Amino acid sequence: MLDTIERPQVLQFTAEVARQTADLYEPVRKVISEMEWCEHAPYIYAINRLKKEMGAVILAHNYMTPEIFNCVADFAGDSLQLAQQAAKTDADIIVQAGVHFMAETSKILSPEKTVLIPDMKAGCSLASSITAADVRLLREKYPGVPIVTYVNTSAEVKAESDICCTSSNALAIVESFDSDTVLMIPDQYLAKNIARQTKKKILTYAGSCEVHERFTPENIRAYRKAWPDAVVLAHPECPPEVVDEADFSGSTKAMADYVQNKQPARVVMITECSMSDNVAVQNPNVEFVRPCNLCPHMKRITLPKILKTLQTRQTEVTVDPAIAERARAAVERMLAVPV
Ligand code: 13P
Ligand code: SF4
Repeated sequence: MLDTIERPQVLQFTAEVARQTADLYEPVRKVISEMEWCEHAPYIYAINRLKKEMGAVILAHNYMTPEIFNCVADFAGDSLQLAQQAAKTDADIIVQAGVHFMAETSKILSPEKTVLIPDMKAGCSLASSITAADVRLLREKYPGVPIVTYVNTSAEVKAESDICCTSSNALAIVESFDSDTVLMIPDQYLAKNIARQTKKKILTYAGSCEVHERFTPENIRAYRKAWPDAVVLAHPECPPEVVDEADFSGSTKAMADYVQNKQPARVVMITECSMSDNVAVQNPNVEFVRPCNLCPHMKRITLPKILKTLQTRQTEVTVDPAIAERARAAVERMLAVPV
């Protein structure tokens, strides 16, 4: 299939734009050069004005580039935080600066709201690894075994599940069942990492995150050799042998909190590239070694596309109401489990 790349509208970096955006630039100066800012600032200015006029909010995941995460987001966070925010926002329009499953989760939790995504093709290797029919087959194969489904899945897959989880609450969700055995789908690595923290038997599926599975134990040993003082943090979507080499493994939020609370002199975050830039903005005294595994799906979301989404109210994410109702039950069960 030919993927036509649209030429974005070009906005000018005027003296007025420079003045109006100067306060936003100061905190991100460390990760965005002045040349780059000249390109970003006119979009940031236009987006922030338009979203206010429209009564829209922008929800941005930690893997968004720093100009999106820090300069146009009304709320920024990991999958769990974005789902919680989508459930409670009063805004009529939600623009999801993230991937498609995140926009679907917002729509599931706020069916009366308009949920827009700046690029419909922003997918996820985990979400595309499993279908609703696969989940029905698993239920037939393992009758009575609770099915815990990672939020990184389609609404149809969530609808077939007992409960959802994110990397922030996966252990608490697994432990919330009486059953000795739990099916955790579709991320085999998250499941294997959680299995090491619980007495329950964890069954899983063959899905994986194409970004986190690329890290290897050799990568980490090389970072340690080059920067012996660095603290290594790894996301649990990484294979267990990678997690074994890290000093700490935790969700996106847990890694950000670790840096915030412990203020290590130097840190390596074994996760998506932009995460380090965004945590660096909030922790100016910490040095970051930046292993760069980009998520190509997250990187489809750009400032020009966010502006176009607001201007055209395209593209709207919809979920069949019958599927949304069942998926909502699985997501709301998750949100009710204390972490
Ligand atoms: P969390 O935001 O739940 O840590 O998930 C990471 C991720 O890969 C999102 O796509
Ligand atoms: Fe999916 Fe991995 Fe990209 Fe997250 S980082 S959207 S899990 S492919």
